[in-house]
Amino acid sequence: MAKVAVTLLNADWSNLTADIRKIEALGVDFIHHDVMDGHFVPNISFGSYAQECIRKVTKKPIETHMMVYEPQRFAESYAKAGSNYYLIHFEACGNLAAAIEECQKYKLKVGIVLNPNTLVEDVEPYLRKYDIAILLLMGVYPGFGGQGFIPQTVNRLRQARHMIDRLGVKTLLEVDGGVNAGSYRDCLEAGADILATGSYVTKNLDAKETKDFFSAVHSFRRRK
Ligand code: DX5
Ligand code: ZN
Repeated sequence: MAKVAVTLLNADWSNLTADIRKIEALGVDFIHHDVMDGHFVPNISFGSYAQECIRKVTKKPIETHMMVYEPQRFAESYAKAGSNYYLIHFEACGNLAAAIEECQKYKLKVGIVLNPNTLVEDVEPYLRKYDIAILLLMGVYPGFGGQGFIPQTVNRLRQARHMIDRLGVKTLLEVDGGVNAGSYRDCLEAGADILATGSYVTKNLDAKETKDFFSAVHSFRRRK
């Protein structure tokens, strides 16, 4: 069964608990927390305190998407702030192997994120060597919600799906950025296990289409 992660990046932060309750009622599987440092990406979002507050409000697993250089520096503070999954960018680590090992010290399930211009095959050695919980392919260049989906992402998802199946690892395949009515079916067909979405859901929390999206994802069964 495919799953849905919703990012709170563009939620109504003046009324966040209400938005989280609505997202929970829709059947969200993961809360996706976008952390931006204004250096790796041209935007600044939240520190670990914001996640501590979210942790108090919801029992759903939190996947922390670290758009931050050398993210292992913050693994302990986000683990304490309630991260279940800690998603680090391939492009943001001077030594990815060392970064993975450091993050795993804090009982975080580590994920690796690839920007649209990073080759999928470059991550294979890390999937072979480490227990990587999630491989996340960006559908946009990171930094902002509400951007247009990059169509080549679908072929990259297919390539990643074949790689994960060939390796026989339990890594979940996720896509994040630009997932909406026009792109989500192609992502499911291409083999994504988790769809991360923001504005498509948080800007339409009460729409019937949003409920339909969640039921379509949860009822999707991939043809083998
Ligand atoms: C972009 C973030 C994504 C983004 C998703 O840097 O990592 O999680 O907020 O938002 P939408 O679904 O609106 O593109
Ligand atoms: Zn994200």
